[in-house]
Amino acid sequence: MEAATGKAQERLEAELGELLERESFEPPEDFVAAALVGDQSLHEEAARDPSAWWAKLASELDWFSEPTEVLDDSNPPFFKWFADGTLNASVNCLDRHIAAGNGDRVAFHWHGEEGEEREITYADLFRDTQRLANVLKERGVGAGDVVGIYLPMIPEVAVAMLACARIGAPHNVVFGGFSPEAVKDRMEFSEAKALITTDEARRKGKTAQIKPAVDDFLGEVPSIETVIVVRNTGAEVPMTDGRDLFYDLAIEAAEAECEPAELEAEHPLYILYTSGSTAKPKGILHTTGGYLTGVAWTTRLVFDLKPDSDVFWCSADVGWVTGHSYIVYGPLMNGVTSVMYEGAPDYPDKDVWWELCERYGVTVFYTAPTAIRACMKWGAEYPARHDLSALRLLGTVGEPINPKAWLWYWKVIGRERCPIVDTWWQTETGHIMITTLPGAQATKPGSAGTPLPGIDAAVLDQHGNEVEGGQGLLALRKPWPGMLRTLYKEDDRYVETYFKKFGPGTYFVGDAARRDSDRYFWIIGRVDDVINVSGHRLSTAEVESAIVSHAKVAESAVIGQADEDTGQSICAFVTLEGDLEGTDELVAEIRERVALRIGKLARPKRVVWADDLPKTRSGKIMRRLLRDIAEGRELGDVTTLRDPQVVEELDEVVKRRASEGEEE
Ligand code: WTA
Repeated sequence: MEAATGKAQERLEAELGELLERESFEPPEDFVAAALVGDQSLHEEAARDPSAWWAKLASELDWFSEPTEVLDDSNPPFFKWFADGTLNASVNCLDRHIAAGNGDRVAFHWHGEEGEEREITYADLFRDTQRLANVLKERGVGAGDVVGIYLPMIPEVAVAMLACARIGAPHNVVFGGFSPEAVKDRMEFSEAKALITTDEARRKGKTAQIKPAVDDFLGEVPSIETVIVVRNTGAEVPMTDGRDLFYDLAIEAAEAECEPAELEAEHPLYILYTSGSTAKPKGILHTTGGYLTGVAWTTRLVFDLKPDSDVFWCSADVGWVTGHSYIVYGPLMNGVTSVMYEGAPDYPDKDVWWELCERYGVTVFYTAPTAIRACMKWGAEYPARHDLSALRLLGTVGEPINPKAWLWYWKVIGRERCPIVDTWWQTETGHIMITTLPGAQATKPGSAGTPLPGIDAAVLDQHGNEVEGGQGLLALRKPWPGMLRTLYKEDDRYVETYFKKFGPGTYFVGDAARRDSDRYFWIIGRVDDVINVSGHRLSTAEVESAIVSHAKVAESAVIGQADEDTGQSICAFVTLEGDLEGTDELVAEIRERVALRIGKLARPKRVVWADDLPKTRSGKIMRRLLRDIAEGRELGDVTTLRDPQVVEELDEVVKRRASEGEEE
């Protein structure tokens, strides 16, 4: 058996090796024949009259009052879209489908870690959303009040978001993998008035207490007047009278009907914190009309979704923007049936994703390159156990995909039948910006493709001139409806971060990219101090600040290092207090500190003890040199260093350790 697997693996490797020669892949004819878009006509239409293009897309939403304005750019970079229209996001996700007689359609096939199943119809979501909205209202939460959401991947997370949207309370979802301390910060920054959370979360057969951990900080966040607790495992948890409610009891007791709030297009829909260049995360603010316009159409056309026949599965967590746009708002606005899975891709076994694809007949599957690389490592025998013939389109997001992983995905999961859309976008952009429309364009392994209709992306040099052929800075030269409107309560930081580099009309992305002769974009990676671990954005400054909060640490510098599994991994250079010696225990303690402050995903993979760190004369840490040291490259220019000796010594230490085999 093992020998057979070994042979099959060898054969696959050889086939992938041959495929690496092939530069581009045309979509299969039968895919094109059935696709919603089979040619370049939308790109042309949008290029002819961008304003008419966006207006047309906006008119596909349900409005209380249709907008007559499209873009208001009188105060750049504070743009407004469809500003005189009024609408409600939950109406677009729910009421319109109920009204069309589709209440019985499954919105989510939910699958729990231990194999439990729940079918949540649009009518179920509609009922619970209205009731939860009424609970929030009774507790004094109204339009403009921020509601925190800290929940695992259970259907209640979608209900919670939609209930907020129904009353115009911006939600602030925090990824379940972040630690309670990180939740506390995000609640404080946003002055949340209520928090929706759970008793316990499950992960790979274990449970983690959530409510008791949340209780530890609630005293320090006085703005939170209400805590709603979803009973997930049913464990007994402390409840504070007058503040805490159980979700199930509260919605049962609530009024059944809740009129949707009629909101202006520019009413905030949500805040989502993401890492920036400083230790303080940025509160990305999205508003209603423009965001929904961008998300609705990209969901439908990039994933070529037909609500009557497709089953869509975006494997992201709702706590990231991908989950906001492509698990909740996008699929629900389009009346699509999706899969929502609570657990990890390797629990109970490494074939669970493929088992679920078979079980629910998933037709369109969207995941991250890191996950594909993990599956590749586990071996093709896991997907081979399952019938994946319903799949017809695959997608990736979050980080550049290496051609080998792309080809493996295409061959082993898509069985050479499914186009792959590599979708480039950001928390800030709200929705997909660069990709291929799967029935209309060929794909190239490793390239995201071209800007979507209406999007003006370019590769610029430091001065804002277009770079032809070579590498440069990715920029977006025109505002688009789904873009962030500001950083919550930090307008100056918004301007500084995104519009200082190229001026108020051109959005600075923070990624390096190049464009080839077919005008396809190749995303290279971040140019700022953001590290992308498994498609999760982390800031070097945030991790450093967690590390130096350890009493024995004097100073730390964190860099992102190339990693074959996770794209990048975190390497921390640490200087200890006084004459302390670095030990394995101390490494464990530092990693634990980071897990407590931010979350397990931010733990450094590698810790390098440094007597001193390379700094410029003005005291700035030279990360470039640290990267060279960590990756064993020739050291670059050291002349601007205050003390060039430091970097030589550090380089020696790392090289010596490597030769002693101490590295992982
Ligand atoms: C990176 C995730 C290459 C990029 C939706 C971006 C990508 C950051 C791709 C945003 C892709 C995202 N190819 N790189 N297809 N998609 N990125 O805000 O560096 O979590 O700036 O949004 O991920 O990460 P965020």
